[in-house]
Amino acid sequence: MDYTTLGRTGLNVSVVGLGCGGPSKIGQRQNKSEADSVRVVRSALDAGINIIDTAEVYGTEPLIGKALREVNREDVVVATKKMTPRDNAPLSKEAITQSLEASLQRLGTDYVDIYNLHSVLPTTYSYMRDEVLPTLLELKRQGKIRFVGLTESFETDIGHTMLQQALQDDCWDVMMLGYNLLNQTARDTIFSQAIEKNVGTLIMFAVRRALSSTDRLRDTLRDLRDRGLVDLTNEDLKDPLGFLLHEQGAESVTEAAYRFCRHEPGVNVVLSGTGNVDHLHMNIESLLREDLPRPDRARLNALFSRVNDITGD
Ligand SMILES: NC(=O)c1ccc[n+]([C@@H]2O[C@H](COP(=O)([O-])OP(=O)(O)OC[C@H]3O[C@@H](n4cnc5c(N)ncnc54)[C@H](OP(=O)(O)O)[C@@H]3O)[C@@H](O)[C@H]2O)c1
Repeated sequence: MDYTTLGRTGLNVSVVGLGCGGPSKIGQRQNKSEADSVRVVRSALDAGINIIDTAEVYGTEPLIGKALREVNREDVVVATKKMTPRDNAPLSKEAITQSLEASLQRLGTDYVDIYNLHSVLPTTYSYMRDEVLPTLLELKRQGKIRFVGLTESFETDIGHTMLQQALQDDCWDVMMLGYNLLNQTARDTIFSQAIEKNVGTLIMFAVRRALSSTDRLRDTLRDLRDRGLVDLTNEDLKDPLGFLLHEQGAESVTEAAYRFCRHEPGVNVVLSGTGNVDHLHMNIESLLREDLPRPDRARLNALFSRVNDITGD
């Protein structure tokens, strides 16, 4: 495993993080047994992953708690989240404290390393900064949280509006954002600022449906082509992004997608979620490989330079 520093937190984290939400929820969405999901977490830890992302709403905190019993708590960076309202409904100090206490109980720990506000919208952000952050800082003083962060709602805030504001305010240690080879907007809007302000970054959406299914990728590329956002011929669509697959390049589009994210300056941790231990190991292997060949990366950058409104799902 390779390790890196998560921005201003100074935490030494694996470049691969285990995502315990997303479409798999470590297998719980596919009705895998709890033992199977705990096995995914243990396999991740055994492979050297030391950062795990979950949330109060995923239902996976108790499974992570079970896996953590086998290891030294201080060897793992545990990140969980407090869901935030879609409107400007109040989020009281009591409600936040109760949520955190419940998460701690489910995780079987007395502190979380990173407490993220979950899916903060551009319209709810200022309330989170002005009214909720002081409570988080109080919980930090009590030793129940080590660092505070926020996650965007990538599906509804594809342009990273909320995180751009958060970077300006410079009061968050970590942020989680959507980024992948199809939608590279974060390069200009987030990463350079995050590097300058030394904010830790956790990447989601590196691989969703478009980058794990050839049919879905073809449909996505056809739609982008029809909207005039990428220059591709019908011939190109027969073997979507096939130019990435060659001896010095990647073995699969999914592998290329993970490598593309991992080596983007400003990216600290790429989250990968799965209920499948084989996928987990493949993804770790992909993320530990070197950057894509320079001409392939340049071609991806040019091909998708006008794309700014898809998530890659
Ligand atoms: N707003 C938020 O705060 C927010 C939103 C979304 C996600 N997240 C967090 O970020 C993490 C990462 O999310 P994500 O959006 O990037 O999705 P993800 O959780 O990483 O899910 C990846 C999907 O791709 C599949 N997959 C993984 N490896 C594969 C492979 N090698 N071949 C084929 N299919 C593969 C998985 O299915 P299998 O189970 O079949 O492998 C899964 O359905 C989540 O787990 C969650 O912790 C946060």
